[in-house]
Amino acid sequence: MRCKLVILSLLLMISVRLSAQSLSKTKLEAKVDSVLSLMTLEEKIGQMVQYSASWDVTGPPTAGNENRLENLKRGLVGSMLNVTGVKATKEAQRLNMENSRLKIPLIFGYDVIHGYKTLFPIPLGESASWDLDIMERTARAAARESAAAGIGWTFAPMVDVSRDARWGRIMEGAGEDPFLVAKIGVARVKGFQTDDLTSPTAIAACAKHFAGYGFAEAGRDYNTVNLGMSELHNTILPPFKAAADAGVLTFMNSFNEIDGIPSTGNPYLQREILKEEWNYKGFIVSDWGSISEMIAHGVAENHKEAAYIALTAGSDMDMEGNAYETSIEDLIKEGRVSETLVDDAVKRILRVKFQLGLFDDPYKYCDAKAEKKELYSKENQQLSLEAGKKSIVLLKNENALLPIASKVKTIAVIGPLADDNDSPLGNWRGQGVSNSAVSVLEGIRRYAPKGTKVTYAKGADLSIGERSFLKHMTINETDTSGFGKAVETAKEADLVILVVGEDAFQTGEARSQTDIGFAGVQDELIKVVYKANSNVVMVLMNGRPMDISWSAANIPTILESWLLGSQHGNAVAEVLFGKYNPSGKLPVSFPRSVGQEPLYYNQKNTGRPGPIEDVTYSHYVDERRDALYPFGYGLSYTTFKYDNISLSASSFSEGEPLTVTVSVTNTGKLDGEEVVQLYLRDLVASTTRPIKELKGFEKVFIKAGETKKVIFTIDRELLSFYTRNKKWEAESGDFKVFVGGNSVDVLEASFKYKNE
Ligand code: NOJ
Repeated sequence: MRCKLVILSLLLMISVRLSAQSLSKTKLEAKVDSVLSLMTLEEKIGQMVQYSASWDVTGPPTAGNENRLENLKRGLVGSMLNVTGVKATKEAQRLNMENSRLKIPLIFGYDVIHGYKTLFPIPLGESASWDLDIMERTARAAARESAAAGIGWTFAPMVDVSRDARWGRIMEGAGEDPFLVAKIGVARVKGFQTDDLTSPTAIAACAKHFAGYGFAEAGRDYNTVNLGMSELHNTILPPFKAAADAGVLTFMNSFNEIDGIPSTGNPYLQREILKEEWNYKGFIVSDWGSISEMIAHGVAENHKEAAYIALTAGSDMDMEGNAYETSIEDLIKEGRVSETLVDDAVKRILRVKFQLGLFDDPYKYCDAKAEKKELYSKENQQLSLEAGKKSIVLLKNENALLPIASKVKTIAVIGPLADDNDSPLGNWRGQGVSNSAVSVLEGIRRYAPKGTKVTYAKGADLSIGERSFLKHMTINETDTSGFGKAVETAKEADLVILVVGEDAFQTGEARSQTDIGFAGVQDELIKVVYKANSNVVMVLMNGRPMDISWSAANIPTILESWLLGSQHGNAVAEVLFGKYNPSGKLPVSFPRSVGQEPLYYNQKNTGRPGPIEDVTYSHYVDERRDALYPFGYGLSYTTFKYDNISLSASSFSEGEPLTVTVSVTNTGKLDGEEVVQLYLRDLVASTTRPIKELKGFEKVFIKAGETKKVIFTIDRELLSFYTRNKKWEAESGDFKVFVGGNSVDVLEASFKYKNE
């Protein structure tokens, strides 16, 4: 035993000198192996266990964990989640380091989804910026804040393609398109991890939820997922593959089943695809209790069977499942699983700890000075404002009500969310302080020109009583007593800013809805206010695409502001008063009715695309089938004209990519930014293909009156998909290429691809 301890001390000394970043792969593996060789089976299993601190729970509490503190001291815990702040993380690390035999550092994980203390726009909202640089920078800032507060691992980015507005977690992703979700996921991974994992501000990212979680039937969270191989490989997996290729250190599996097999217990996903085919070397953490939830799924009789299924399938760490710690030792003793499976999981976990430099300095993230300096800094507030305004999407601007003209002397700000300082923080708000965001009313008051009168009436409450992550919220369905004042205020104003939509706690985990319209008495409020004064600018605050059909048909101007984080109101005001020209584009389709969900632009053609004379084509008899506002859509205070689409050749083959050039002219009077989008369609293929697929985009700044040429390159990879051969390949044939400012209004051209 003494000899082993000496070896470990020597090993740790060497590791202090060599920064983990400079470790060659072989040295890294040698270090991992030598630590592993010192570990008892009990200690190995301990590395595969993750506990939550009971003071901040993000899932149902688990029973049977009375020995937690003792286990921590004995080195039988690999990670903790929900322990935050230097004081707490340092203490937990100290208990582990000073008492455990091998002194293997803990890694602290937390849901830093769109910020730690400074909140940035919710991920879906920020995705509307189509600005990868800003998304990398906000992830960087969130990582700096988290790292300064003891956190070395975020459970983000969520790269689940999500197409169902009923699913509350749609707010946490980057929308309905795999190409966009992949690009954004990679930008966020880079922001969290940087190129130097040993940096004190770099934290591990986590690609989640592997896989298919966004495809829950009927948009009901945690529900069954039914999908085929083509959908799995072509739609769901590409963002995960991109994150793995970008070096994401961890994956999280998902609660759902696919085709009868819960993902946590799915060897095809975890072992075959991720660990073998993609040669992924990081580790997979289960989702909260998802190993033991296989009992409820009905595929495991008890914790031991659940542990058996998960371990053999490739799940490496048990988040709050109480299954691995209670069962793996017995499974090995009984000869049902080989210790090599445990070794593989533990090596993956140790590898990440080495890569982050935790063996060099287990207290790497415990710098009280940094904690004081980094959190909620001025720079981060500025960044939140920048990200906020870039995320706003102008959906409608009839009568050019926006930007607000100087002739407007009285502005009435109305609505349940108008002076809400809390909802902008979203549901996943890290350590954001309740009610700390700038409300729309505050922003308007700050930015309104001198001499402009700003009046306010709430109109109605959206909810009644307590709102929080783990509680159901009660919607105000009856109290309209504030309507009278709202109507009077509207009548006396030149312009009404009506702020409506969703409370922060209407979207996020477990917030599925069957009705995606305006909750409570908001519909009525919108109508009475509009009747009193039709000069209405509706500012939407929400975490999902909503059914806003009546408003879209009647209200002249609509601005989608999502939930923008700490600087919400200032960002909205900059757009309202024309200090910033909106440039956001929708990363998700807005439906005409909830009945269309899941709705997405990259649908299949079907055998009966119509429209035909006959009734028998794929449509609804009571509603159009297309989106109210399509994917990629968003207006500006200026206008853009697309023309002269041209291809470098009419056909191409591997090795000689094709270029597509298009001219985009700013035909308005203001400078502005436009997201130029490239879509492709494979006309005949071995499997059915979407009618359009995003394959490129560029956000360009164009001065008023100026024309810019935008050039895209199409290569073999862009045409490739998971074919009938069950391979990722490009097939010869005819293609269409489309370029435009959204997924509907496009120029088009054709080309051939020859697979030679
Ligand atoms: C459950 C969620 O599905 C997951 O995304 C999150 O990271 C964990 N809880 C931890 O809070």
